[in-house]
Parts: sequence; structure tokens; C-alpha cells
Amino acid sequence: MAEELVVQGSTKEELYQNLFPQIESLLEGETDLIANMANLAACLKETFDFWWVGFYRVKNGELILGPFQGPVACMHIRKGCGVCGTAWQQESTIIVPDVDLFPGHIACSSASRSEIVVPVFSQDNVIAVLDIDSEFLSTFDYTDQYWLEKICKLLQDGQ
Ligand code: SME
Repeated sequence: MAEELVVQGSTKEELYQNLFPQIESLLEGETDLIANMANLAACLKETFDFWWVGFYRVKNGELILGPFQGPVACMHIRKGCGVCGTAWQQESTIIVPDVDLFPGHIACSSASRSEIVVPVFSQDNVIAVLDIDSEFLSTFDYTDQYWLEKICKLLQDGQ
């Protein structure tokens, strides 16, 4: 069981609850997908201090690195490969409590121990994935999935 994340006296749930309306206002009126992804990655990194937060966009039949915060990462991921390519293929969120136990996990950084990948949809197609890595085991749970899916829905009308 993951220990509850508490940052400056707030639980993870409270942090997401506070963050969500701020993200809504930040993205309101802005339709540029890259600009919105860039600010979203910054918001999540600043709030939770995750090891790596970023997007991979679907382009020319593969995932290509998009806006991110954290150490340099691999730039191309094929469909069905790694956690990102699998979430794209399955069109659903994947939570990986221990990356060493996920067959085919792509290790961009040896410091990464657990991971969550959330697809971004536009008109029922996956157009990108949000990938978050933690240097601790079992960081992510249903609270993250719930809020990150809600956050990714805000991107779906972007261009
Ligand atoms: N671990 C990911 C690759 C991307 S990096 O973590 C930033 C994967 O297995 O798809």
C-alpha cells in the first residue's frame, strides 16, 4: 500500500482539488495544444515535484516527445512499446507501481521507479499521452488516475 503523499500539510486529493480550477483558468481561452501541454507539465511538476512530467504526441504513426519538465527523455516511442506505447494502444490509463515489473518498460532514467500514463483524446482518437515518473515505488493510485484523466480532458479541444 502506498503511503499517502502529503505536501506542506495537504493530501494528494486536496492538492489536486486546489490545482484543478487553477488549471481550468490557465487553459481557458487557449487552444494551442503545445502551449497548454507546456503549462500543464509545469503545474504538475511544481505542485507534486514528480521526477518527470511530460507529454508524447502521436505524430506520423508513433509517439514523439512533447513539452515536459525533468531530465532529458527518449524522443520516439512505437505503438505498443513501453508504458506509453501500451497506454496508446490500449487507449486507457496504465499505473505501474514498479517499472522493473512492467515487461518492455522503456527506462529513460534509471531513477524512475513507478509511473502513470494517461491518454489524451480528441474525437475518440488518442492524440497524445501524459507520462509521469516517480523516483519512488507505488507513487500513483486511483486518485492520480481520476484527476489526471480529468485534467487531460481539458486538452482535448486543443489544436
Ligand atoms: N518509461 C516510458 C518512456 C518515457 S520516459 O519514462 C520519460 C515508457 O516505458 O513508455
